[in-house]
Amino acid sequence: MTYTRIIGTGSYLPERVLTNHDLEDIVDTSDAWVRERTGIAERRVAATGETCGDLARRAAQRALDASGVPAEEIDLVLVATCTPDRIFPSTASALQRSVGVRPGAIAFDLSAACSGFVYALSTADRFIRTGGARRALVVGAETMTRILDWTDRGTCVLFGDGAGAVVLEASDTAGVISTHLHSDGRYEPLLYVPWGPGQGYSNLRHKDRYIKMRGNEVFKIAVNTLSRIVDETLDSAGLQKSDVDWLVPHQANIRIISATAKKLNLPMDRVVVTVDRHGNTSAASIPIALDTAVRDGRIQRGELLLLEAFGGGFTWGSALVRF
Ligand code: UT7
Repeated sequence: MTYTRIIGTGSYLPERVLTNHDLEDIVDTSDAWVRERTGIAERRVAATGETCGDLARRAAQRALDASGVPAEEIDLVLVATCTPDRIFPSTASALQRSVGVRPGAIAFDLSAACSGFVYALSTADRFIRTGGARRALVVGAETMTRILDWTDRGTCVLFGDGAGAVVLEASDTAGVISTHLHSDGRYEPLLYVPWGPGQGYSNLRHKDRYIKMRGNEVFKIAVNTLSRIVDETLDSAGLQKSDVDWLVPHQANIRIISATAKKLNLPMDRVVVTVDRHGNTSAASIPIALDTAVRDGRIQRGELLLLEAFGGGFTWGSALVRF
């Protein structure tokens, strides 16, 4: 049997910090409200001219350095993003060039909103297990602040920019134990960006370029859905809640994260929380959290990780990983 192991992690946050206090000058909000309702203290904003591909490159380089694998030995580059640099070529093809992955390797972007990294990890795992690739570079990278309406306090306080990456390699022993992906397109009206190139430009309204969300409805469905996927994931592997060493959740809201931890009977000191520092970075949030806890020594080799995400689509998914 061939399995997939994570052999390196990396992440990158842009330099500019935007605090809740900074936002008090922009919209009718308060540091106290944002902290209490979301757990977010600050987020990062990409510099003018700094793109999703730039963030992806920095995170990917750090993951490659950590893995010890030269970029020329990567067979597959996957970038999960909903804020790509261009319509095409893909951010993954640009990344292939910028980090020096060999010409002729496979490269493509994957769009599943906040679930993008779990979707990409699952896709790469399937390539590796079926012999289509031996080593993969999987990145979640987003410039969410470019699709925010800075007059809408219901969304602009929530999101931020960043990137995270992992290097995967074929292995005889299980790293990625299982992945679980789902979507339900009926929920589009609760979380979406109205405009895309397929809509044409003639009727483009300024506000249609930005995220629209019915936050409270999304919140309730996210909590219930993530609770269900925890059971699905553990049942499929025949594992107990007590087997999980670390929950590495999508970082959207500390209250959603706490509800999932409660479902797992996991104390919060076994949950990787980074949402306070960068807000919701969509597809980038899980690999940023993973890299943070690997680098600060919390996550150790051999430990069992449960990754889970929920986002626009709706999409949702999970991965059980022996690190
Ligand atoms: O990652 C993709 C998936 N997205 C998510 O997971 C986001 C899910 N949703 C959420 O995280 C939460 O629903 C929010 C953080 C967006 C909102 O929290 P909430 O507890 O659901 O608040 P709410 O929408 O029910 O609003 C409560 C009150 C309202 O005022 P009234 O009607 O009670 O007077 C809002 O107008 O809070 C008000 N409010 C704010 N007040 C200060 C909404 N946004 C803000 C704000 N600052 N930024």
